[in-house]
Amino acid sequence: MGLSFFIQCTCLVLLLVSLTLVHAQRKVFDVTNYGARADGKIDNSKAFINAWNGACQNIGGGMVLFPKGTFVVAPVVLPGRCKGPMELEIQGTLQASKEVKDFIGIDHWITIQYVDGLNISGGGTLDGLGADGWGYNDCLKNPGRCKQLPATLRLDFVTKGYITNITSINSKNTHINLFACKEVLIRNIKISAPGESPNTDGIHIGNSQNIYIVDSQISTGDDCVSVLPGSQYINVTGVQCGPGHGISIGSLGRDL
Ligand SMILES: *[C@@H]1O[C@H](CO)[C@@H](O)[C@H](O)[C@H]1NC(C)=O
Ligand SMILES: *[C@@H]1O[C@H](CO)[C@@H](O)[C@H](O)[C@H]1NC(C)=O
Ligand SMILES: *[C@@H]1O[C@H](CO)[C@@H](O)[C@H](O)[C@H]1NC(C)=O
Repeated sequence: MGLSFFIQCTCLVLLLVSLTLVHAQRKVFDVTNYGARADGKIDNSKAFINAWNGACQNIGGGMVLFPKGTFVVAPVVLPGRCKGPMELEIQGTLQASKEVKDFIGIDHWITIQYVDGLNISGGGTLDGLGADGWGYNDCLKNPGRCKQLPATLRLDFVTKGYITNITSINSKNTHINLFACKEVLIRNIKISAPGESPNTDGIHIGNSQNIYIVDSQISTGDDCVSVLPGSQYINVTGVQCGPGHGISIGSLGRDL
């Protein structure tokens, strides 16, 4: 009797816990419900922005989902402030634009700004299609007035971020750029670009505090992690670097 009461009780508790978990599941904003198509051709940036705005304006936040497939995305800015924490779940591949007009002189591909609570994961890939941009990088020949190419992912003024289980390949410039961020954990990610690719830094950190980069693999043509002025409490642990230039601190005077 005592035992069966205990078992019933346990079941009830488990049921309540699982109901709560279901209830707590974040509302999903699937980009394909906003017109996105994984055909590797059409530009899905409008669908991305609309799904993002839907999630951002949802009370309690939401999850923007890219299901499997290859989605072409032109440069986008995804702004906060949001009505709750945000998740970006990338299961497929986001592919940058091949159009020269979409990237010469533009500093970002995907920018997320002013978000408090941001998780990016899903096992998918950000493909910067770098080879379509590297030829325009003339900074060695033309220092001072060289053409800017976009970073793959920029987080500006993001707090409590978590980036995990994502791959970034062949960015046209830096792969991930953190500016004025606080409490960001980057774990189990993979960054790769050929050793001879110009300025394909792994992760740039500027004006940011409490940034953890853990258990990740970064193989690029340039710095693996670089820490710029104004940054404090940066912890890089268990990161495999190479063939690039390794970890650098304070690339002062460098053009971002
Ligand atoms: C982000 O992931 C962490 C670790 O799994 C979790 O604790 C946190 O609640 C998540 N935040 C959001 C906004 O999903
Ligand atoms: C990465 O994401 C994929 C797809 O959602 C999932 O199946 C896998 O378990 C995740 N891996 C880790 C280490 O979280
Ligand atoms: C850096 O992070 C690692 C992994 O999370 C942790 O074990 C270590 O204690 C941290 N170091 C400092 C100085 O906080």
